[in-house]
Order: sequence, then C-alpha cells, then structure tokens
Amino acid sequence: MQATNYIVSVDQFSNQDVMHFIHLAEAFKQGLTVQLKRPAFAMNLFFENSTRTHTSFEMAERRLGLQVIPFDPKTSSVTKGESLLDTLRTIQAIGVDLAVIRHPQDAYYQPVLDAKLPISLINAGDGSGQHPSQSLLDMLTIYEEFGHLDGLKVAIVGDLQHSRVARSNMVLLTQLGAKVYFSGPKTWFNADFAEYGEYLPIDDLVSQVDVMMLLRVQHERLTQTNNETFDATTYHQKYGLTEKRAAAMPATSIIMHPAPVNRGVEIASELVESPQSRIFQQMTNGMYMRMAMVSHILVQRGLLDAKTLEDAANVNFN
Ligand code: CP
Repeated sequence: MQATNYIVSVDQFSNQDVMHFIHLAEAFKQGLTVQLKRPAFAMNLFFENSTRTHTSFEMAERRLGLQVIPFDPKTSSVTKGESLLDTLRTIQAIGVDLAVIRHPQDAYYQPVLDAKLPISLINAGDGSGQHPSQSLLDMLTIYEEFGHLDGLKVAIVGDLQHSRVARSNMVLLTQLGAKVYFSGPKTWFNADFAEYGEYLPIDDLVSQVDVMMLLRVQHERLTQTNNETFDATTYHQKYGLTEKRAAAMPATSIIMHPAPVNRGVEIASELVESPQSRIFQQMTNGMYMRMAMVSHILVQRGLLDAKTLEDAANVNFN
C-alpha cells in the first residue's frame, strides 16, 4: 500500500489496499503480536459521542503497545476557541505520534492535510462524510463470511442521507465488485447515492440480497420538525427489517448494522442476536481492523518493523 501518514477517507484505498488491511486484521485476529521500536503515544480526540469506535481504537492502540493520552473536549482548550489545527500542533509538540479524531464537521481534516503536520491522523468519522475504519471492518466481516466481495448483492437500508457509513461502504463495495442497492425513506436517497446503486423498496430486496445492512436513524442530525413528526412504529413497518421480512431472506444471507442500534426501529430487536446477525462480530472485527490501521501508520513512522507484519500477514509495505 502507498505510504501515508493520514487515513481519512476510503477514496484513498485501492482494492489491493483493502485486502492489505483485511490480511493484517486477520493476522492480528489469529494472535499476531508486535514490538514497538520506541515508546509511542496516541490521543483519541472524540468531539462526537462514540462507544464502539473510541473503545476499539483505544484497545487496538494498547494491544499494539502504544500509550494512550486522555483527551476530553469539554475540558480542553477547544472550549476557549482553540482551533483543531492548533490543538494538533500542540499535541504534536508535546510528543503525540498518532491522533484519532471524530468530529461533527464534514471533512474537518482538510486543513490538517493542507498544513502537512507531521503527526499521524486517522479519521474516526466526520459528520455525514466518511467512516473509513467502519467501512474496512465491514469489508472484513463480509470477506470472512463469503471469502470474496465481488458479485455479492448488498442492500444498505435506512437513514442514508446522514450516514458516513453508507457513503464509505457504497464506494468500497462497488469498487470491490459488489452490487449495491439502497432502501429506506426515498427522501433520504440523495443524488450522490444514485451512481453507486439502485433504490428499491425493502420488500423487493429481502429475498435476493446476500447482505442486509441496516442504518440507524440519526435523530441528532434530523431537523426538529422531522424529529417531532417521526413515528418509530410507522418507520419500522415501512422501512425496517421486521421479523417477517427477515424470514424471507436467503438462509445464507447475513444481517449487518454499524450500531448503535435503535431496536424496533430500523431492525426488530429479536434480529440483533439472531443466527444471521453479524452485528457483534462487526464490533469484534472493528478492534482487529483498527489494529491493522494503526500498525500500518506505525510502520510508516518507523515505529514498527514492516517485515514482521509482511511475514505474518503476507502483505507488502513497499
Ligand atoms: N459504529 C460506530 O461508529 O459506533 P460508535 O458511534 O459507537 O463509535
């Protein structure tokens, strides 16, 4: 894979790059351990709430031997008006090697890239823009299940408009040869989705897809009017994966959801733990995929020996 100090968008990845990360994640899942060449430090700056991404990045960093420096936006100098760029310049000056950032603003990372700061950066989600680590862990989960992605039919269903997961996954899935379909409220099917797949009602999709990927309704990004008029029962009946719809899915198909889940809204609660659900496997894979991403960055910084990873995962860092 190309040398890079920043992982901010799936647009950076070729198919070979995706497989590079999948093979690294698989090697870590099989027990690969590594030794840092010197003490190294990570900081996770989450300006939006998170359970999975924040925890699994921290777990990944610790398992790779990084020391994790705490950061709380509520008590940081961001509250005094310090810019993100200045915050990053500051932690870089103090000695942090890697910043993992989640931020509500789309493409918040662009000024950081333009400034060419030597600190490494992984985007843990920007507004409704990109979520590269979620997308890579989703590709890993599908690859583990089917052994390939090309030719699979994948439905992405729910709050498309506000979903950085949908925007990242539609790019990688189509690039890897999967056929993508979209469903959910038609008003949330933005023009940017149309070039990646067809919109169909969920009832037309359930019996023919290999992967049913549900998305949470992001109430925090809806207008007050939309929130006031939203009815969970109506939404579930019209757009959700009900138990009746799930019964029509092929036996070999799987259910995915990036979580957090609104049980009984985009998915019937009983389906979250059903045999076809891979929702908790996605969370487990997330930690290993984040080990893959962080270790990739550590190789670029000269903090990890590339050969150890190359030998264990059959990948190439040149
Ligand atoms: N899937 C995901 O990004 O979850 P969190 O918001 O809990 O990190």
